[in-house]
Amino acid sequence: MVQKKKFYITTPIYYATAAPHLGTLYSTVLADIAARWHRIQNIPTFFLTGTDEHGQKVAQAAQAAGKEPQPFVDQFIEPYKALWRQYSIEYSHFIRTTDSYHVKAIQHWISDLQKKGDIYKGTYEGWYCTPCETFMTEKDYEKGQQNPPCVSCERPTSLVQESCYYFKLSAYQDKLLAFYRENPDFVTPKERLAEVISFVEGGLQDLSISRTTISWGVPFPGDEQHVTYVWADALNNYITGVGYGQQGKEKEFAQWWPADVQVMGKDIVRFHAIYWPAFLMASGLPLPRKLLVHGWIKVGEHKMSKSRGNSVNPQELLNDYGADAVRYYLARQLAITQDGQFTRQDLEQKIGSDLANDLGNLLQRTTMLADKLGFTTLTVDAWNDEEKALYGQAQTVIELFDKEMERGFYHLALAQVWQLLHHANAYFHASSPWKLAGKDDVACQRVLTATCHALHTAGILLWPFMPQKMEQLCERIGRDYQPNQDLVARITQPWTGSFTIRKGDALFIKPEPTVVAEQPEVKKEESYIGIEEFVKVDMRSGTITACEFVDGSDKLLRLTVDVGECGIRNIFSGIRAFYTPEQLIGKQGIFVVNLKPRKMMGSISEGMMLTAEKEDGTITMLTPAVGAKNGSRVK
Ligand code: MSP
Repeated sequence: MVQKKKFYITTPIYYATAAPHLGTLYSTVLADIAARWHRIQNIPTFFLTGTDEHGQKVAQAAQAAGKEPQPFVDQFIEPYKALWRQYSIEYSHFIRTTDSYHVKAIQHWISDLQKKGDIYKGTYEGWYCTPCETFMTEKDYEKGQQNPPCVSCERPTSLVQESCYYFKLSAYQDKLLAFYRENPDFVTPKERLAEVISFVEGGLQDLSISRTTISWGVPFPGDEQHVTYVWADALNNYITGVGYGQQGKEKEFAQWWPADVQVMGKDIVRFHAIYWPAFLMASGLPLPRKLLVHGWIKVGEHKMSKSRGNSVNPQELLNDYGADAVRYYLARQLAITQDGQFTRQDLEQKIGSDLANDLGNLLQRTTMLADKLGFTTLTVDAWNDEEKALYGQAQTVIELFDKEMERGFYHLALAQVWQLLHHANAYFHASSPWKLAGKDDVACQRVLTATCHALHTAGILLWPFMPQKMEQLCERIGRDYQPNQDLVARITQPWTGSFTIRKGDALFIKPEPTVVAEQPEVKKEESYIGIEEFVKVDMRSGTITACEFVDGSDKLLRLTVDVGECGIRNIFSGIRAFYTPEQLIGKQGIFVVNLKPRKMMGSISEGMMLTAEKEDGTITMLTPAVGAKNGSRVK
């Protein structure tokens, strides 16, 4: 595991124009999970979140509500903090950009950059709507269009010049490109960095960072007709929130900055990957280590409309399913690498299958059986091969889980824990401790104890995701739960010690399914293929006789497959995140054997293994229900 001295994580600061919604909850839950994962490794952790309260957008929203900006934004702070409390969001500090220490620190930042020559006064020319007191932005009109209509009131605009302050963004173009080259992991997922690079390569203009057309913002030091552009004010919260520009807070600032991870949605990555590093370079400050960029939760009208009972109000979800289940779902189902749909049906399905069934049921069956047999304390001196295998897998899972957490792929970290839970369930079932009771009590206790060890491992790894439920899980098996201890070290020890079993209610209840109107299925004639096309694909059953990791690839496994009359094949499969080689060796699968051989990672892949996606988005290999002859054709 990576040794760290400290961990500093941030969320975007949210516009204080409405109560929090599912999208803002999503960013915040991801950051909280990462913060908690570091806290249980006893790594000093700082987690900053807060609200973005200045600028035109907020001023206009206040005006529309008939309120002054300050009381307007004030009314949203308590709803934010209350919801975060209810969702177990344990932030270290909640910053508001109207906090006076932040305002002063922004003025200090501007003065500093003026002295260094990175902020200068110039003129800004643009199409201006006098009644609305607003400049149009480039996306509001066609290039070359004269007096374009105002986007709000549709009256013709006029060309206006005003003085404004610029940040010398253009001077940082090459430095930024060099930085991206040297730090390819600066943005996760990587594809998002590619978008940023091509944008910067297209050329950077100096950035106007003051406005005279609005007054709701941080006054520009020494020229109070100007207020600071909202992004220059907002981005700097990440440093002012840990002491930047505040006397007496130098040590605090040095302790936390630079941020280790900054979480955000893909819509604001350019601000964070271009302006923000350039601001920091200008201030002579180190840059954040990683921007973790998630996709959007699609609020498609059909799936999310209240009239269909699919509301995404976080408060309603909390009442219906509980905070931990929603936290789990957000992290598991919405892979950060892509956009995702949120539906109640999907959430209910995950609660039922993963939480109530795979996790909750195993705990319930183990503790109820131990209690019924009077085994209040479970302890074992020696393990058999089955338990050793379960222990071995638990250790592999901890290692892979940590790697995925480090990459920011929380959905894959969770998939690892479910590998362990599936193994533990299969082991419990195959060992049938209820049949051993009274006949071989030592063996019976061994099975129950090993299952408790697996549950304990899962419970600690899942605590960052579901803190309340996992504390209950630990209590039920008598493992005290104290954050800010190295709990991870506790589960990487050899399996020893005892469990004190307590009966209790089920950890998760399978929710009653929400009913939605059925959509008629539309099939297109032209999507059919004839049998003559189907038989062109030669699919055979085969047995994996060897399997290994592929150096330099975090996706691939190399399989050696016995495909009977088609010979022994070397086949690469992109399933490394879902299987270890040990889990595959000896398994039968289905392989396409007449695919054109392809060079991969310095060797030839001579076929393809068939896989399918599971409900949870992870991948499973397809396998004959009962043993099939190697090389037999799949029809
Ligand atoms: N105030 C700026 C951020 C300034 S940070 C220096 C802002 N605020 S926001 O309230 O509009 O959005 C904040 C975050 O919530 C963004 O990361 C955004 O991507 C996220 N989400 C808002 N709606 C979302 C979804 N529907 N899905 C996922 N996240 C989205 O931008």
